Amino acid sequence: MDASGISDPLLEQARRAFPALWPPHAKEGSVSFDNAATTHKPVKVIEALQAHYLSHNANVHRAGYALAENATKEFEGTRRRVASFLGAANSSEIVFTRGTTESINLVAEAWGSTHIRPGDEILLTPMEHHSNLVPWQRLAARAQARLRFLPLDPRTGGVETREVAGAISPKVRLFAMTHISNVTGACNPIDEWIGICRRHGVVSLVDAAQSAAHRPLDAARLGCDFLACSAHKMYGPTGVGVLYGRSEILHAMPPWQSGGQMVESVDWEQSTYARPPHRFEAGTPPIAEVAGLRAAIEFLGELGWARIQTHESALVQQALDLLGSLPFVTVLPAPPGRAGIVSFLAKDTHPEDLAAFLNTAGFAVRAGRHCAEPFLRALGADSALRISFALYNTPAEVTRFVTELRRIHRELTT
Ligand code: ALA
Repeated sequence: MDASGISDPLLEQARRAFPALWPPHAKEGSVSFDNAATTHKPVKVIEALQAHYLSHNANVHRAGYALAENATKEFEGTRRRVASFLGAANSSEIVFTRGTTESINLVAEAWGSTHIRPGDEILLTPMEHHSNLVPWQRLAARAQARLRFLPLDPRTGGVETREVAGAISPKVRLFAMTHISNVTGACNPIDEWIGICRRHGVVSLVDAAQSAAHRPLDAARLGCDFLACSAHKMYGPTGVGVLYGRSEILHAMPPWQSGGQMVESVDWEQSTYARPPHRFEAGTPPIAEVAGLRAAIEFLGELGWARIQTHESALVQQALDLLGSLPFVTVLPAPPGRAGIVSFLAKDTHPEDLAAFLNTAGFAVRAGRHCAEPFLRALGADSALRISFALYNTPAEVTRFVTELRRIHRELTT
């Protein structure tokens, strides 16, 4: 074990593969604890982007010259790779988008506009990020439908499965659920919840933004209808994400955005549309970013889920134990088995002030409402300080963070 406290040589090596964590790109000893916002990128991903622009740059699905054919082959090859990563039965179930937000908006617009009618209900957890809340608010307003929120158990910070079962009625058309809360790290039992949806014919959507880099996902086994994630939270580039849509449901969906490549034939007055996934990919897609996503998936695959999960669970347990020993700290609750995200309040200090002082001590953390304003309020907080882990964080960083937090809090309150 070296000074980082990591005993696994492969993880230690993986840590070294992120240039942004080390001099000359970062100050010696600086710590990235804002990984729920975005993760850093390993060399492999940066090189994939560079290699694309240097040697493989061409548009896809258009021209027949060698460079363009190769670009298309690589792009569609990555779609197959993503399908297997997310457990899709078929690569046509994988739509490339700009990210989780765009994936959810696509569903709200394309599926929602044809399936949600006046009086229908859309079921949500109380812990949704704004990106899995505001699109449904807008759809409900347009369609004269209603949003229903599952109750939060304030003791556990979770949602009871019996509440999900109790909320289902013939009016509920869709249950849009976050897998892992970006505020508390609460990991919802989505397999049970999707099972309930399937038994009652309710369409299910999983916001997997915070889980795709931390837990294996298997859409076909889960049986969900939609699942959304973003590459940039998975060690991949910004500007690309995925919408998984079950084959049948995608085939029945009209397009959302319109333009090149989403059509089969076009006349002056009307057009016919391409089959999924191309029906939902109007315009030039994020080709280089898709190449980067492939490299990120390969990077995760080389490490394996068992190693990643063991490491991140140990970090979060260490953080909870150490924060629990500070009498001035209140950790926002999450049921057992939380992912590597912890938000907390520190008595007589404002989270933004603490975050600013922690920044000068070398820690990148996020303070505020975390784009989940109603959830924060439901937890009785106006703002919270959040730490969120990635596979490159270390036990030594967690220990040093808590030491610095104690020092800063003392200085601010005495
Ligand atoms: N959703 C990201 C976060 O939680 C931006 O910080």
